Amino acid sequence: MNYGMADFIGGFWHYYIAAATVVAIIGMIWFLKSQTTRRLGTGEQAELMEPTWDGDLKELNNPLPRWWLYLFYLLIFFSIAYLVLYPGLGKFEGTWNWSSADAYSQEKARVDAQFNAQFQPLLAKDLRVVAADPQIRETGQRLFLSYCSTCHGTDGKGAKGSRLFPDLTDKEWLFGNGEPDAIKSSIAYGRVGEMPAMKDAVGGEAGAKALANYVLSLSGLPHNAGLAAEGQTKWAACAGCHGENGKGNLAISAPDLTDKAWLYSGTEAGIMEAVMKGRKGSMPAQLEYLGEAKVHLLAAYVLSLSQGNR
Ligand code: HEC
Ligand code: HEC
Repeated sequence: MNYGMADFIGGFWHYYIAAATVVAIIGMIWFLKSQTTRRLGTGEQAELMEPTWDGDLKELNNPLPRWWLYLFYLLIFFSIAYLVLYPGLGKFEGTWNWSSADAYSQEKARVDAQFNAQFQPLLAKDLRVVAADPQIRETGQRLFLSYCSTCHGTDGKGAKGSRLFPDLTDKEWLFGNGEPDAIKSSIAYGRVGEMPAMKDAVGGEAGAKALANYVLSLSGLPHNAGLAAEGQTKWAACAGCHGENGKGNLAISAPDLTDKAWLYSGTEAGIMEAVMKGRKGSMPAQLEYLGEAKVHLLAAYVLSLSQGNR
């Protein structure tokens, strides 16, 4: 979707802005003319204007020098030409039909074509092979820094201060099991993991607290044994997604709760929050935006990140 000025201003505002622009330009021409028409006659002296500044700084009413005036006329001519050719006068789009959105997509298409011509051949190659090439990994890293690091961090370990974004360098995967195709599809089509809010289903805050302690016990973390035992009796509410044993279900991206990798938080309070309010992590789809060659390279790069830790 391309937006132009016309999408933002319609009806009254179009006329208002256009009229204000035209009046301003006419005003400038009038003002300049009023300054040029009066020339000094022969023998006429420029008058001294009052007051005198700083003791000896005097102001004369000489007309502006010609060359200076012509420069102003040139600028006015330029602005009129600009408003005829380019969008700027209300919603009038300009005779050249230029738009910043078009200029951007043309530039992007040009750069993409260059990039694709260079990397298209890699599409036929297995991702594991691509991932093993250090030079290609370097290109992948550059792409990762520009497109992915805002969320996943420059090193792929997730953004600092936020546990929302999964660490891409460990062996734990939310989606798939580290297979190249699963990684590529996460990037290409995006992913949404949705955990419903279950406060009522588990008996309010007390139930959530008991379950949190049970989940902590699953991961071998410090917990209250009495509460954990109580939580275990409520586990049926969670087993449908996270499995009987809490190992998760990759098909619906329900994470393994028995490991020490946490998407959000591995504290009692964090787990209670997950149970009471639900969680919804979403990874935006990239295929349309980046094109397949870049997605392929990025998948290879992510694969190489996690392989370093095998
Ligand atoms: C707007 C933030 C955001 C951006 C930008 C982003 N991601 Fe993600 N990504 C996420 C979130 C959030 C998840 C986890 C989704 C969930 O919880 O269901 C995720 C999941 C993933 C996964 C799946 C991880 C797993 O454990 O299975 C991969 C692979 C991935 N991202 C790679 C990338 C790559 C490569 C890029 C750059 C092209 C990228 N992401 C850009 C937020 C983002
Ligand atoms: C309908 C399926 C479903 C049910 C039922 C469910 N969960 Fe989840 N749970 C998920 C999904 C999917 C995620 C990942 C959310 C994301 O990617 O943002 C998740 C995430 C979590 C997390 C965050 C894990 C982390 O790594 O930070 C915890 C903790 C959790 N669930 C505990 C529970 C407990 C306890 C119950 C039972 C009361 C439960 N879940 C019931 C699907 C479910």
